[in-house]
Formats: sequence, structure tokens, C-alpha cells
Amino acid sequence: MNKFNATIVMLLVASLAITGGKSIEKRNKLIGSQIAIFYPSDFNPGANLPSLAFEKEPTAIGEIPLGWKLVPSFYHVGKETCAAFPVGEGVSLYGTGEVTGPLLRNGTTIDLWNTDTPGYKRADGKRLYHTHPWVLGVRADGTAFGIIADNTWKQKLILTDSIRFISEGPAFRVVIIERKTPQEVVMALSGLIGKMYMPPLWSLGYQQCRWSYEPDSRAKEVADGFINHKISCDVIWFDIDYMDKFKIFTFDKTKYPNPTEMNDYLHKRGMKGVWMIDPGVKEEKGYSVYDEGTKQDNWVKDATGKDYLGEVWPGKCVFPDFTRPKTREWWSGLYKNFMATGIDGVWNDMNDPSVFNVPTWTMPENNINRGGGGLPEGSHLRYHNVYGMLMVRATMEGILKANPDKRPFVLSRSGYLGSQRYSATWTGDNLGTVEHMKMSIPMSLNFGLSGQAFNGPDIGGFGDKTSPDLFAQWMSMGVFFPFARGHAAKGTNNKEPWAFGPEVEKACQTAINRRYRLMPYIYTLFHEAATTGMPVMRPTFFADIKDLKLRTDDENFLLGDNLLIVPKWAKNNLIPKGNWKTISVNGEDSKNDKYQADILQREGSIVPVGNLIQSTAQYSTDSLTLFISLDAKGRATGSLYEDANDGFGYKKGEYVMWTFTAITKDNMVNIDVKQTEGTLKTKTKLFKIKLITKSKVLEKGWLKANQLKVKM
Ligand code: NOJ
Repeated sequence: MNKFNATIVMLLVASLAITGGKSIEKRNKLIGSQIAIFYPSDFNPGANLPSLAFEKEPTAIGEIPLGWKLVPSFYHVGKETCAAFPVGEGVSLYGTGEVTGPLLRNGTTIDLWNTDTPGYKRADGKRLYHTHPWVLGVRADGTAFGIIADNTWKQKLILTDSIRFISEGPAFRVVIIERKTPQEVVMALSGLIGKMYMPPLWSLGYQQCRWSYEPDSRAKEVADGFINHKISCDVIWFDIDYMDKFKIFTFDKTKYPNPTEMNDYLHKRGMKGVWMIDPGVKEEKGYSVYDEGTKQDNWVKDATGKDYLGEVWPGKCVFPDFTRPKTREWWSGLYKNFMATGIDGVWNDMNDPSVFNVPTWTMPENNINRGGGGLPEGSHLRYHNVYGMLMVRATMEGILKANPDKRPFVLSRSGYLGSQRYSATWTGDNLGTVEHMKMSIPMSLNFGLSGQAFNGPDIGGFGDKTSPDLFAQWMSMGVFFPFARGHAAKGTNNKEPWAFGPEVEKACQTAINRRYRLMPYIYTLFHEAATTGMPVMRPTFFADIKDLKLRTDDENFLLGDNLLIVPKWAKNNLIPKGNWKTISVNGEDSKNDKYQADILQREGSIVPVGNLIQSTAQYSTDSLTLFISLDAKGRATGSLYEDANDGFGYKKGEYVMWTFTAITKDNMVNIDVKQTEGTLKTKTKLFKIKLITKSKVLEKGWLKANQLKVKM
């Protein structure tokens, strides 16, 4: 133990001895069943509240019971404020937001300070684009806890010999969740910080991006490429080069003369367009966004009270102060005309916020955010980590105002605990390397365990030349991530599925077909995430929380509870106990395929699989294949969620939750289909059954719901 650690331990012991769990601050209360809030004695509400993590300020429901397991120690080291928790033997730690490295977080240190980090190279990959002051702990017996440090300030999360949040800001409060399982902890987290919104179905399709497809004819060529190569795709993305000199809310007159026509072109082909907007506004008199924002005094100030100027793509820029309700309202309003060109979704990038040519890659810490609407004025040190989240909040409000009948889709590079309320995210500027491909699994898993279910990496790797073999490997597993988008940096090789020759093209086509076939199951999982907070992509150990061997598995992953994805390159194939069976959802033979991941189905489950479509514009659940894997008792269950795929009718009950139940009696498997929730009227469905037995797959169909019987 080094000197620093020894001091901390002494302080911890001292403070535990003082509190002894007895003289806990009066404000410490239960704020939910088995959820407690603890305040340090020198807590200053003005420096911390209102919380930006919680959906609403927690209210006390009672006293913390005696014998409460996990009690924080609050202390100071110099100017830093700390909260520490002991970690018992055999506790596995997860969560902590967007992090590089293995799934299991024990022994790691994370810098919670949103940073633009190309290739994850800055600060040794300890600092990425998001801040999630959150740890999920799973004890050896499977019981679990979660810790939230309700603190936006610059801080470190140290998971070496204990759990320590060490902050450069004022003393902060913490919330502790205790539950019987890690799944319940993650759901309880979402009860506090909010759930993701139900996304439009199209945003779950495969998506193609590049920095940049320019001019617009190239974007059209890529869109047509998907149709001509018969590879399904839902979205083409528009990176910064569509803008006039990188000025946001403008279009380059030569390269993108008619964005409406561009979007129409995509829509006619069953696709959508997502376009980028950065926070930096070029300082240029005569540019309406700059002029209006200046007139309304919307910009972040430097320490002397002048508009802060920092360099980003357009050159010298001012930055909207998103802590101000008036600025947010103005920002929201900018989307009206933008969305009127037929834009379907918005990509907010560089909102860490990134600033070029300064050693910190961001604004000075003593910049001033003026706040309002209950949020106090504060330094950039206080609000830096929530800059991106406040930006996407305003963006989401803006696109909702522009298109009130459509579900918003926003992708954000930066965020904070709770950002899932406003946006999906991706894991930033990874590289086309095997290391980054493999790391994308634990990264996305821990993101999901931190409340941000809708996330994924740049498939194929953003930076570097990606080799054909790596691209095929990556696509073959990347299609099973919640957010599935291929992206590529300027100057790198073409990274569309057909750019690497016929073998890779075939591999990509098969992989993407598998995602679209699984769309009914995936959409159902997103509904689950939006209503319960359960992540879409789950760690293998969720299949058996008491099997300690599974705790470190970050090569395989679960898609929902019923499918285990085993990438071809996985070496430590840790298959949970039970009878997991490899299935073929699109006629593929993954076992003998060089690239395709194996999809293993859990015994006792029913997975609804759809038909092949070019994009979700053709999605239908009128005919479905039910993959049935019976358990030892000859039973299986599953579900399917459906609604209008967009819009908000589902909030008024216009949806259906179907429950499938298979029961075996006298060698006959009877499958029952029941509408268990919702009022949406749907067409009579036809089903094909694929009954997966030990030795073979029995197939039957197409049949109506009341005819579903299969003889074993
Ligand atoms: C940085 C983003 O991370 C990347 O995805 C994007 O292509 C570039 N900015 C250019 O806008």
C-alpha cells in the first residue's frame, strides 16, 4: 500500500469510527425501497443542486434501517472532497459509464471529465467523452448494490482498494441502492435517473456514415449502393462537410445545394437522413446564428465576463450556454427550419465540449455558465460534464417541437449520468484495430449497465485503415449492438460493406440480414429498456449471477435474456449453464462460417423472428417465425412488442404486447399466442414454428395462432 492509500485508509477508519453507523446526518434518509441517500456534514445545496442526474429531486420515505450494509465515509484530502466505500471480498464492480478496458472494473481508475479523445489516446484512455459517477457492485452471492455520486464536478473514480470518488468540487451527496440482483439494481437506477425514450424503429436499423459523404451525389450513390448490393440499411449520415464552412444550421451551396431534395431521395428509398450539428458557433458578423445568439447574449462567458472564444472546425467560435433556459429555448427553435428540410434525426458532436489548440482540449475551468430556472451560476469546472447533456436536452426539445408527431432521434458524443433521457450515444473515435473491436463489447456493456442502453461503437473502426478481414469480423458481431452504425474518418479507406471485395460483402450482408431478421425481438428489447431500464445488450453473467466464472466474460454478450452472441474470435467461450442452442435466423451456418458470430438461444425461450427487408420501412409482423427452445419440462415463453413504429400513440395504449407460451403434452407442443397488453388492432398473423430439439429443428408453418401445434 502506498503512502497516499495508507492515509485514505486511516481517514476512512477514523470517520467510520466517528459515525459508527449511528450519528448519521439527519438528512440521510431512505428515498425508495432499499435506496438510501447520504449527505456529507459540509454539504452546500447551492453548490450541488438541483441534481442533473436525477429525473426529479428524491424525496424521503423513511429512516435508513439499522444495519444498512454500505455506508459512505466523507472526508477531505487537501482541497479535494471525497466519498469512500469499502469493497468486500469477492465483489465484482461494473458500470462507471463509458470506459476502455475490461468489463470488470475492479482495480481501475477513471477520470470523470468529458474529453475529446481521438483513438482513446488522451490520458491513457482513462478519460472519455462521458461522465457516469456510478458503480454497480455484485457480491459473490449475486446480491448487488449501486452507488451514485450526485456530482457533476471534475472527479476521479478509484476502484483499487475501495470505491472512492475524489472530486475537485464541493462536498457531494451519494445514493446507494441495495437489491437482490444486479438486474434489479440497474432497473432501480433508471427509476432515479430516468429511462431512455422509445426510439423510432428506423433508428434500430443498420446505418452508414462517413466523414463525409460529399457532395450529395456521393451520399446518393452510397444509398443506392445498399439497394443495388441488396444490403439492408435504414440511415445515411451527414457529417460536418455538408455545412457552409462548418457553420451550423447552414448548407454548402455547391456540395449540398438542396437538402430537401437529398432527404426526399432517401425517403423515396425507404431510408432516413441524420445530420450533424456541433455546439461551436462561428464568430462571424452577418451569420444569422451568431448575430441572433449575440443579440440574445447566449454565449458562455470567460472569467472576465466577455464571450468566451475557442477554436473548433469553423475557426474561432462562441459556445451556447446551455445552463440558461433562454439559450436552450433559442437553440431548440433553430431546429424548426433545419428539420423542415426533411431531416429525420440529429447528431450532436464535439459537445464535450471540444476546443482545439489548447492543452486541456476544452474551455478554461473558470469560464462562467450563468444558469437560470433554478440552476445557479457556476464555473465550467462545475458544468463541463453536463455541457453535452444540456445541449442534447435542448436539441431533443427542438426537434420534438419541429415534428411533434415523430419520436425524436438524437445521437450525442458526450453525456452525463441521465443523458439517456435525451439521446443515444456512440463510443467516439475508436480505431480500426482488433484491440478496439474487442474492447467495444465491454465498453457497450458497461454503458448499458450505467443507464445508457442505446449505444454502440463505430463499426469497422473510425480511425486507421481497416483491413478487409477485421471489417468482416467487426460487422459480424457489431450488428448485434443496440446502435449499429458503420463510420469512417476522413482520409481512411472506404468502409461501406461492399468496399472490401465480394467475400467481405457477403459476410456483411449475412450479418446485417441477421439483425433485420431479429428486429421483432430487438424492438421488444428496446421497449423493455424504455419501460424498465434493463439494457438491450447484457453481460454474460446476467444469465447466472451466481456463477463467478462468468463475471469476467467480456467476449460473449447477451442480447436480451434469450440470445447469447459468441463472436467468431472469442477464445474464452464462457457459455452459461443450461442448454444453449445455436440457431440460424437467416439460413446461415455460423458454426462453419469464418466470420458470423454464433447466436445461442436460451432453453425455455421463444424468440420472434421477422422477414428479410431492405429497410424498416418494409417492417411487418404479419408473418413471424417463432424460434422455440424448450426447457427440460418441455416449456418455453417469449414476447413481442409492436406499435406504429414511430409517433406517440403507444403512450395512449396503441400497442400490443404478445405473450407466447409453449407447453408439451403427450409429445405434442402447443403454442399459445395471447395479447396481454395494449389496444392496437393488428392483422391476423401467420406463424412459422422452428422447434429446436436436441438433435434437429422441427419446422411447421405458415399457420394461424389457433393452429400452433407441433408433434415432437
Ligand atoms: C468527431 C467525431 O467523433 C467523428 O465521429 C466525426 O466524424 C468528426 N468529429 C467530424 O465531424
